[in-house]
Amino acid sequence: MATNRTFTMIKPDAVGNNYIGGILKMINDAGFKIIAMKYMQLTKESAGGFYAVHNARPFYGELVEYMSSGAIVAVILEKENAVAEFRKLIGATDPTKADEGTIRKIYAKSIAANAVHGSDSDENAQIEGDFYFSKLERF
Ligand code: CMP
Repeated sequence: MATNRTFTMIKPDAVGNNYIGGILKMINDAGFKIIAMKYMQLTKESAGGFYAVHNARPFYGELVEYMSSGAIVAVILEKENAVAEFRKLIGATDPTKADEGTIRKIYAKSIAANAVHGSDSDENAQIEGDFYFSKLERF
């Protein structure tokens, strides 16, 4: 069943390069509504918890290190069929393979520093949003 919510993080590379505004503008222009948003730095423990699903991957250590290296912006987004629509907007995980006009093609540097995260399923969108936001922080 299609959901109407997804979760994203603007990652430390994009925050450090002052791309928050440009990325949020692309998200709003694509018709997503912002339901919740937080500007913060993850600890290694919280980054490890967020990405626990990848803990057997060879890049897990690098991912946790990187995601706790600077500020991120966590956001819950709403749009019809949000998970699939958002993945279209951000493009492939590896920016060299991302389509023209996608957020990662425009703003990402590498597969690790790939500007944004996007939930890969309705179930994970729910889990990831709940990781950051209480009910009182959603509008
Ligand atoms: P994201 O959508 O946040 O989900 C998991 C992240 O792991 C992914 O984006 C990439 O940033 C990162 N990742 C995936 N593959 C690799 C890799 N081969 N090397 C380093 N990081 C990776």
